Order: sequence, then C-alpha cells, then structure tokens
Amino acid sequence: MGLIAARDVSMTFGGFGRPETHALKGVSLALPDEPSIVAVVGQSGSGKTTLMRILLGLQEPTAGTVLYRGAPPGADPARFRREVQAVFQDPFGVFNPFYRVDRALVLPLMRFGLAGSKGEAMDLASRGLEAVGLRPAETLGRFPHQLSGGQRQRIMIARALLLKPQVLVADEPVSMVDASLRATILESLWKLKTERGISIVYVTHDLTTAYQIADRIVVMVGGEIVESGAPEAVIHSPSHPYTKALVGAVPPPDPSVDWGLEDETDEVAA
Ligand SMILES: Nc1ncnc2c1ncn2[C@@H]1O[C@H](COP(=O)(O)OP(=O)(O)OP(=O)(O)O)[C@@H](O)[C@H]1O
Ligand SMILES: [Mg+2]
Repeated sequence: MGLIAARDVSMTFGGFGRPETHALKGVSLALPDEPSIVAVVGQSGSGKTTLMRILLGLQEPTAGTVLYRGAPPGADPARFRREVQAVFQDPFGVFNPFYRVDRALVLPLMRFGLAGSKGEAMDLASRGLEAVGLRPAETLGRFPHQLSGGQRQRIMIARALLLKPQVLVADEPVSMVDASLRATILESLWKLKTERGISIVYVTHDLTTAYQIADRIVVMVGGEIVESGAPEAVIHSPSHPYTKALVGAVPPPDPSVDWGLEDETDEVAA
C-alpha cells in the first residue's frame, strides 16, 4: 500500500488560449511503509515542486491520485495536516510578514495540542530552534524579513519537526545555507529517519547529497521519472543520459565520505 503515494499523476498548466505546460506526465511515486528517505533529483523545471505540492494536497492534479495510508488526504484532513509536514524551497512565502517568527512555531503547537500552554509552546519552540542551530533569543522576536533565507529555511525545518510528522516533504531544504550547515541539517534529517522513524521526500538538484542520505533516488526529467533505484545503482550504472551527465558532474570524492566507488570512478564519470 505504501505510506504516501502519487499514482499516475499528471499536471498541465495553462490552456484556455495560453500556452500549455505539461509539468507532470503520469508520475507515480510511493514511499514504503518503513521509514526511508527518497531523494527526487532533477533539473530546474522538471516538475519536482509541482509533484511535492500535489503530494501535500496543495495542488489538485489534472489527472491521477494521491493516497496517504491508502486513503485520499481529504479522508482525514486534520490527521494529514499534522502527519505530513513540508519544508519549502522558498520559505519566505510561507511566513506571514506581519507576524513575528514565534507565532509560526507556537500557533501550530497549540492548534495540534502538542503544548498545553503558551509557555510550554515557547519552550518547545526554543528547543526546536536550537536543534537546527539557531539561537532562540535572536530569532523568536523577529519578523521574517529580518532573517536570512537560510535562517528562514531552518525555522521551517524546526517547525516541521516540532509537529512530530510521519512524513516530511523537504523541497530543496538546504539550498540557502552554506556547506557546513548543509551537512548538519542533512545529518539531522538522517537522524529523523533512523531515530524517530520519519519518512522523508528530499528534493534536490544535488546528486551528491542525495547519494549521501537517500535510500532511493528518483530522477525526473521533463515531468517524468526517468530513473529510480538504490543510490549505488543510480551512481554506478545510470541508464538515462541526464543521470549520466549528473554523475559526471559530481565532484571528486571527499576522502571523509565513503563513496564506495574506489577504482571505478573513471568508468562512472565516462
Ligand atoms: N502555477 C503554475 N502555472 C504555470 N506553470 C507552472 C506553474 N507552476 C509550475 N509551472 C511550470 O511547471 C514546470 C515545472 O515546475 P516546477 O516548479 O515543478 O519545477 P522544479 O523541478 O521544482 O524546478 P526547480 O528546480 O527550479 O525548483 C515549469 O515549466 C514551470 O514553469
Ligand atoms: Mg522546485
């Protein structure tokens, strides 16, 4: 059955006199019941965000269905909204510019009954911010525009985690942070899976980080899934020309990371 699944989803934008964009053409993607990380890799415009928005129930597909634990998200919308959380590519649009950051964290904690009082919610919010490397005292009282993109991204991650989801859809969650922070955040995503049993859809342009943390890599080109498999299989024997080009563009291995490629690097890069 799968935890969350998109079945044969298509999405066409435009029409009615405007040019049509076929953003998704019959895409199926399912997360297994057991905790796992699926990386969705693809170039700009390949349909990744559109697929995530449809998975999250934010966008109605032109065709196809989404199932969460075998039922449409609308079957139990409150449960779906709590158990399936998102971190977006552009976190600015998610925050209400007129409210301070603390409200974005405290309100959902109260609404979902995860904190009994505002004080308790503030306490949890502070701990959540610390977990993603932010100083609560410097973050909570601020308005969204007073923070950097990377800080906003981390607040989104803290918010998602505070709600103790079953599924986290993370669309380019580390695109706005520097390399060392990226490693820290990716490690925390990995821990969410291994320690808390949370399943993650990790959207990225970056095959390197996908290889590092994913159990499965799905490659999208032009609104279609062109390749899907274990990271080793995708890296060692890519079948689609786009994946081959991506593998060729992966930087030389960092000696601290076990790539498992060894002497085959030349062959893979060819
Ligand atoms: N609301 C919309 N109206 C019209 N076209 C759209 C809309 N949303 C997305 N598209 C188009 O659908 C295609 C897929 O866009 P999408 O945002 O899903 O790509 P993406 O893989 O997330 O790209 P990126 O890596 O740049 O984030 C693009 O051609 C885009 O222009
Ligand atoms: Mg996108």
